[in-house]
Amino acid sequence: SIDARVDSLMKLMTLDEKIGQLNLPSAGQITTGQATNSDIGSKIEKGLVGGLFNIKSAESINEIQKIAIEKSRLKIPLLFGMDVIHGYQTTFPIPLGLSSSWNMDLIEKTARIAAQEASADGINWTFSPMVDISRDPRWGRVSEGSGEDVYLGGKIAEAMVKGYQGDDLSLNNTIMACVKHFALYGASEAGRDYNTVDMSRIRMYNEYLPPYKAAVDAGVGSVMASFNEIDGIPATGNKWLLTDLLRKDWGFDGFVVTDYTGINEMVAHGMGNLQEVSAMALKAGSNMDMVGEGFLTTLKKSLEEGKVSMDDIDNAVRLILTAKYKLGLFDNPYMYSDINRAKKEVFTDKNRNFARKASAESMVLLKNENQVLPLKKSGTIALVGPLANTAVNMAGTWSVATIQEKSIPLLEGLKTVVGNKATILYAKGSNLHHDLEMEKRVTMFGKEIPRDGRSDKELLDEAIEISSKADVIVAAVGEGAESSGESSSVTNLQLPQVQKDLLKALLKTGKPVVMVLFTGRPLAIVEEHKTVPAILNVWFPGSEAGLAISDVLFGAVNPSGKLTATFPMNVGQVPIFYNHKNTGRPIGNKEGKFEKFRSNYLDVKNEPLYPFGYGLSYTTFEYGDLQLSTKEISFSDILNASVTVTNTGNYDGEEVVQLYIRDKVGSVTRPVKELKGFKKIALKKGESKTVNFTISVEDLKFYNSNLEFIAEPGEFEIGIASSSDFEFKHSFILKK
Ligand code: IFM
Repeated sequence: SIDARVDSLMKLMTLDEKIGQLNLPSAGQITTGQATNSDIGSKIEKGLVGGLFNIKSAESINEIQKIAIEKSRLKIPLLFGMDVIHGYQTTFPIPLGLSSSWNMDLIEKTARIAAQEASADGINWTFSPMVDISRDPRWGRVSEGSGEDVYLGGKIAEAMVKGYQGDDLSLNNTIMACVKHFALYGASEAGRDYNTVDMSRIRMYNEYLPPYKAAVDAGVGSVMASFNEIDGIPATGNKWLLTDLLRKDWGFDGFVVTDYTGINEMVAHGMGNLQEVSAMALKAGSNMDMVGEGFLTTLKKSLEEGKVSMDDIDNAVRLILTAKYKLGLFDNPYMYSDINRAKKEVFTDKNRNFARKASAESMVLLKNENQVLPLKKSGTIALVGPLANTAVNMAGTWSVATIQEKSIPLLEGLKTVVGNKATILYAKGSNLHHDLEMEKRVTMFGKEIPRDGRSDKELLDEAIEISSKADVIVAAVGEGAESSGESSSVTNLQLPQVQKDLLKALLKTGKPVVMVLFTGRPLAIVEEHKTVPAILNVWFPGSEAGLAISDVLFGAVNPSGKLTATFPMNVGQVPIFYNHKNTGRPIGNKEGKFEKFRSNYLDVKNEPLYPFGYGLSYTTFEYGDLQLSTKEISFSDILNASVTVTNTGNYDGEEVVQLYIRDKVGSVTRPVKELKGFKKIALKKGESKTVNFTISVEDLKFYNSNLEFIAEPGEFEIGIASSSDFEFKHSFILKK
């Protein structure tokens, strides 16, 4: 058995070798040919490295693995990790985009393809899924998660873990997943990255923890501790979090890795010196130390001084060796780096076609006045905007293995899809920002986005000139790929002024304008919503961007994405989310008009610009009356809820049918709405389908003041709708 193999190996290990297994450096500059001479190479030889990350290609990985296997005393294979968070070389939309597809099979398949490609190229461990609930679009990493809802977030976490790990982790095309960032990282104060988190246990349990638990229940192999503190103790050193909750309550049996220099950062958090915080992290339940070498440099001393025990070290080592056995690395250390497989299986036409489908399915149609969309393949189309012809901005944040230059920009995609049926004119129109300094900041890994040296006026004039010759204008605007993601928090959620000016000028031409919005976060695009007739939110669509956007613009794909994060009216409404509490003083009028001494603002309504679950289609869907199988259920009954949905428009389409409930009275206050089910259905023009949901007592449970997961008898409102913006008309009773 694996346990027996681990035990016998551990008997052979020296203390240094054991501590070495807990060490996860970043490969940094290591490339083929240099590995053996590097500092990391010599550490691997001495058995002082357990795994490596940020290293790419089967060749380089083979070379490093060879050092571990041929030169280290015990020949323990290395783990190779990477942030494969939305595809490997074939790049899918950013996770927030993928979540907007509400298609769990599709999301699982993207993770499957990512695992197949990454594993062929040497990677056996991905730092994904990122399941941090976030209700704050100021936080740049909102782009990496699945939005604001715990129920949907849990389903996506499960789908991704299944996709990466498959049914058998020891196969050469499945990789170990790592759910992150445990926990609550998405709730950093003021949306500022790495900032303090402070929240009640009851909120944690009900509104933030479920997606991490869903990943654990799905068998995730590893967990990454978050940078933030929880109850005043950084997650990396938080015993309650990493041991009591994760292992004892949830039964997690994989290993915990810190995030980057998470241990060292505990010094700045004010928890002690490096030796103290390293001991604290180990004892709390951090098993592998990413980058900072706190374990490597201090644990021996701490053991000698009795600050950690041999058991503390052995427990961590055992978990890491077990993961390596489960991955099959002891049987074949090179099984994940197969140069021939990489050549054949990475960035294949088949995978790219799937990425094109996934991208199109993630896009959200926010507005379509007078059915400007879909466009016709005829006449002259002016394509304008800083995001119209830029391959490097298509994949979005954390696309580590993407070859950016190979991504298809919108201009190329439009030309391919339109062929010679219409004339396409192109002008950049503006840079991303007027301010060069800002543009320099929104880069990652040192890559700068090429900037047009012409003045704002010159760029604008050219755009107006080509637009005056066109029948319709497509304006590709929004954020740069790295304007969201790690360390990309903002306090302004509007489009940059230079792009607003461009849009205004384009609208002035009197031609119909279609805004193609690139973004990694919900934006406050109120002005654009008021003035631009059609808005298609494409997120960062991945390597097939231009083709997928064109598929939607010309109607080959009817948009079906729905928002998984609320778009605010302005930054002052943040945090804003659909499943809020009612308060003791909710406003009483449906129009959202201001009411004195009620919970609202003087200057803006409580309502968002676009609510959770919102997204239009080229067709229209009509919902029939909700049917309930009964008005009363007991704790052991099942309630059936159904609705007939009809495609009443002129196109075949897909609709995400959403089920919400409201627990009217509780021992603790309950949200005004909670998503409890969804189904994505395809309806041909004129077709009707009845969509059925079942509700059991499990769906009605929540954590009470004692943190017991219970359902309480009483009245529940229930509704099935096309977004979270509807009023309940039906209810049922849960009997004692
Ligand atoms: O996985 C990431 C994490 O999300 C942020 N810090 C670095 C890690 C490894 O690259």
